Amino acid sequence: MEIPNPTSCVLFLVLVFFSSSSFSSAQSSDATVYQMFLQCLSNQTKSPDVSNIIYSQSNPAYTAVLRAYIRNARFNTSATRKPTIIITPKQETHVQAAVICTKQVGFRLKIRSGGHDYEGISYRSDNPFFILDMNNMRDIVINMSDETAWVGVGATLGEVYYRISEKSKLHGYPGGVCPTVGVGGHVSGGGYGNMIRKYGLTVDNVVDAKIVDVKGNLLDRKSMGEDLFWAIRGGGGGSFGAIVAYKIKLVKVPETVTIFRLERTLTQNATDIALKWQSVAPKIDPNLWMRMLLEVVTVNNDKTCRIAILAEYLEDANSLVALLGEEFPELGLKKENCTEMSWIESAVWWGGLDIGTKPEALLDRDVESADFFKMKSDYVQTPIPREGLEGIWKKMIELEKGGLEFNAYGGRMNEIPATETPVAHRAGNLFKVQYSISWNNASAELEKTNLGVLNTLFTYMTPYVSKNPRGAYLNYRDLDIGVNNFGKDTYAQGEVYGRKYFNVNFERLVEVKTAVDPENFFGNEQSIRPLTSKK
Ligand SMILES: Cc1cc2nc3c(=O)[nH]c(=O)nc-3n(C[C@H](O)[C@H](O)[C@H](O)COP(=O)(O)OP(=O)(O)OC[C@H]3O[C@@H](n4cnc5c(N)ncnc54)[C@H](O)[C@@H]3O)c2cc1C
Ligand SMILES: *[C@@H]1O[C@H](CO)[C@@H](O)[C@H](O)[C@H]1NC(C)=O
Ligand SMILES: *[C@@H]1O[C@H](CO)[C@@H](O)[C@H](O)[C@H]1NC(C)=O
Ligand SMILES: *[C@@H]1O[C@H](CO)[C@@H](O)[C@H](O)[C@H]1NC(C)=O
Ligand SMILES: *[C@@H]1O[C@H](CO)[C@@H](O)[C@H](O)[C@H]1NC(C)=O
Ligand SMILES: *[C@@H]1O[C@H](CO)[C@@H](O)[C@H](O)[C@H]1NC(C)=O
Ligand SMILES: *[C@@H]1O[C@H](CO)[C@@H](O)[C@H](O)[C@H]1NC(C)=O
Repeated sequence: MEIPNPTSCVLFLVLVFFSSSSFSSAQSSDATVYQMFLQCLSNQTKSPDVSNIIYSQSNPAYTAVLRAYIRNARFNTSATRKPTIIITPKQETHVQAAVICTKQVGFRLKIRSGGHDYEGISYRSDNPFFILDMNNMRDIVINMSDETAWVGVGATLGEVYYRISEKSKLHGYPGGVCPTVGVGGHVSGGGYGNMIRKYGLTVDNVVDAKIVDVKGNLLDRKSMGEDLFWAIRGGGGGSFGAIVAYKIKLVKVPETVTIFRLERTLTQNATDIALKWQSVAPKIDPNLWMRMLLEVVTVNNDKTCRIAILAEYLEDANSLVALLGEEFPELGLKKENCTEMSWIESAVWWGGLDIGTKPEALLDRDVESADFFKMKSDYVQTPIPREGLEGIWKKMIELEKGGLEFNAYGGRMNEIPATETPVAHRAGNLFKVQYSISWNNASAELEKTNLGVLNTLFTYMTPYVSKNPRGAYLNYRDLDIGVNNFGKDTYAQGEVYGRKYFNVNFERLVEVKTAVDPENFFGNEQSIRPLTSKK
């Protein structure tokens, strides 16, 4: 296609506008926007074939490109507002041009890496918008001599783990446990996984980054400065710019790690064990991480509650049996309950795959099916007493659905100051709670019931969780705790969710935002708002 010279852009638009009376105004304006945007991109990138990285709604591949990284079926319906254009950059200059040109045509830009945002806000919006889909920006370049790696934001955690293990069996990375989660959202939102007690959060192991700012400049740590570099390690993707890559610091893992999963129902002392778990899991040897799931199950036609404890231990099974025999004898852990494996094999197991599945499975980006789901989060600072646990069981049995997940903190998390990164929830927190409910059809009635169930559990937990503010984890996105509807709200509304997610770090994030994006070009339903912006 011939590229019109830059000055013809405006004229061309006017022509399209007045000659398209046979089309509906929506169609003609979308076509106009597309042409305007394409011209700007071509001009910015000085590349004639840049049309192959943008998809308008009339492109036959549009729906497939949009759906490829939708991970919550709730936002996969015909009622979900679709982006006017999807941009799939293949190189940094494409990202720079996308930012400049989206701004030029006056659209909002949603940035998507792995698409796992629980509320889908990387690919949906109430207002007209474009998606900048980073899935092609996924190079992973590992340097074993300084034990770091540059990782493109479109890489998945599974790819990162696999590529590290290809180079070394003695290195790993303390990221999340779901292999299809994208680096872009995960790292910018804090990130944690089964080595949190040993190495801290994902962002505690980031040493550099590349970001495209609102002017289209590509910046690294040195050129962006320490304030912005601080903000994009947990302050949320989408508030400050389009992050292109993070440079991560690899961590040491042993040749052999040990995993187990143990289950106990109420008649098998689940209450005693859950009570004890709360004082052991956050205090024990930082090489051990234990997650506890609380759910309703049916045993002999009766609903009961069951806990499941899943563990990663960065040592061998004999030492683990000895350690827990000493500190948690009620668990009755036997060597037969443990499996020794390499760190990368444990990543496969945490990813929900059977023991023995080849680690290449971590490279699989396609999620066969995604449920309809809703999640919420909390932090617990003092152990939930026995009556509290008994109340949880009662509620869960009454509701017959919904699940809780307790993720142990402590260890390294207690040593890193709350202000080191935007993620303030560190020392003082025993564990993080995730509430979850999922279902498998689009029934609106079912959705309403299930959201109600989750809210009931969340309300029940109020006395047992952090207060003033009641903390929440950004990567467990929850729009119930407040939204900012560009232009329709006040600054104060943005502060409500901001305090819950960032607590004492909220002001500094606002300062950074005000300095780097005062016009609030980058934004989403829960982004940080600049002090002055009316948008
Ligand atoms: C099945 C599942 C398991 C999970 N397990 C864990 C876990 O073990 N530990 C944990 O900490 N979290 C976990 N999460 C949560 C996960 O970390 C977050 O959902 C994370 O934000 C997803 O990143 P993404 O790139 O896939 O998502 P996206 O939906 O692409 O992005 C999430 C947010 O970040 C923004 N963003 C994405 N990329 C960029 C970029 N390049 N520049 C600027 N902004 C960007 C988006 O606009 C959006 O606001 C899990 C989620 C799921 C669905
Ligand atoms: C084309 O790009 C140049 C910079 O590369 C810029 O100065 C000019 O305004 C652009 N023109 C249009 C129409 O976007
Ligand atoms: C989205 O909907 C399409 C069409 O119904 C379906 O094929 C796809 O699996 C769905 N994806 C998700 C994540 O629900
Ligand atoms: C790898 O790291 C070492 C040590 O910092 C450095 O000297 C070298 O240039 C790096 N290699 C690459 C390819 O960046
Ligand atoms: C743990 O091992 C013991 C002894 O082999 C066995 O009886 C028990 O069922 C195992 N527990 C689980 C949860 O696998
Ligand atoms: C439950 O606790 C009792 C009393 O401590 C103990 O005798 C019993 O073996 C425990 N049951 C299980 C399944 O661990
Ligand atoms: C949706 O699933 C629920 C529970 O599984 C079922 O009762 C209901 O009939 C289903 N509705 C539709 C529209 O498929």
